[in-house]
Amino acid sequence: MTASPIPGTRPSLGITALGTYAPPRRVTNADFEARIDTNAEWIESRTGIRERRFAAPDEYTSDVGVGAVRDLLARDPDALLEVDAVICATVSPDALMPSTAALIAMQVGLTGAAAFDLSTACSGFVYGLSVAQGLILAGTARRGLVVGAEALSKIVDQDDRNTAILFGDGGGAAVVGPVPQGYGFQHFVLGADGAGGSSLYLRCAAPRLPGGFEMGETVGMNGREVFKFAVRVLGDSGNEVLAKTGLSSADVDWLVPHQANIRIIEAACERVGMPLSKTVVNLGRYGNTSSATVPLALREALDDGRIRDGQQLLLVAFGGGLSWAASTMKWWGGAPSLVARAEREAVGV
Ligand code: ACO
Repeated sequence: MTASPIPGTRPSLGITALGTYAPPRRVTNADFEARIDTNAEWIESRTGIRERRFAAPDEYTSDVGVGAVRDLLARDPDALLEVDAVICATVSPDALMPSTAALIAMQVGLTGAAAFDLSTACSGFVYGLSVAQGLILAGTARRGLVVGAEALSKIVDQDDRNTAILFGDGGGAAVVGPVPQGYGFQHFVLGADGAGGSSLYLRCAAPRLPGGFEMGETVGMNGREVFKFAVRVLGDSGNEVLAKTGLSSADVDWLVPHQANIRIIEAACERVGMPLSKTVVNLGRYGNTSSATVPLALREALDDGRIRDGQQLLLVAFGGGLSWAASTMKWWGGAPSLVARAEREAVGV
């Protein structure tokens, strides 16, 4: 497919392939109850989380990201053709240097591609889609690989009941490239407010380096402050990106939010005017996997047939920074019938 079917027009760009990975080890609420001062019922009723996955001791964020890219390749072996930029959104990089993106690129046969990490915590995947779109529109890259991957279990104090119960490990990988006119990304809204930085922080951590950093360099959080911020920005950024696109919530088939807490998602749904029945929620099984929640939710809803080609999606996320990101997109899954229809529409028949 050419980048721009009509000379002089901006090419439509979107997600052309999507893969995910979650480590096999399940950690249930009962496992926490057996070990620290909490109880399984409290965790589920206050967060919606029932279990999460933890990486193996020798499994780090780059390995999780590679797992997601391998899943993507299993679904579409040609998906990485023309990828010349790799962006890894992560808050739990293997190390500060080298970038986790460079390590992932090397392992999936993309050595030589531009590679860098993006640090906007749970907003990272949606931020990354926008950055990849920008690189392609600027002519710097032909296609981009955006990986949201985390091994949060290694940077969260597993004895701190305020944070330990919330987070899990996982990854998602998306190729960004040309899609038929009328499909793909419509608009993005990105933002950050460093004034709230102290509500959610990680001073420094490099779990993979032998002898790396001392314990104590784990995630710190003021849960109530983050909760209030999350509800406000998910609503505001969702409404802003809808207005930019000229849509109302009634036009949206599926809301795909960052999965941090079911109560945050419910409040955000109310603010955007979306029912929970049209919202993809899977945090019960994965917890908060930071930059991986949006692709994990998206992939699951595609696999079970909820999200279908041509549907209108609204993605909203928030995270450390504090940061937020929202996006509207018309899903294009590459179905031949849709390509044919889109090509007919492009030439006006
Ligand atoms: N088990 C049992 N009791 C607990 C636990 C626990 N794991 N954690 C806290 N409590 C207790 C508290 O000590 C408190 O007791 P007290 O009343 O005697 O003082 C009581 O439960 C209520 O505490 P709150 O903090 O008010 O509980 P809340 O209902 O706000 O839920 C939570 C806490 C789940 C952390 C919530 O505030 C939240 O989800 N905040 C957002 C967190 C978030 O999304 N973080 C990730 C951001 S994304 C990123 O970028 C990484």
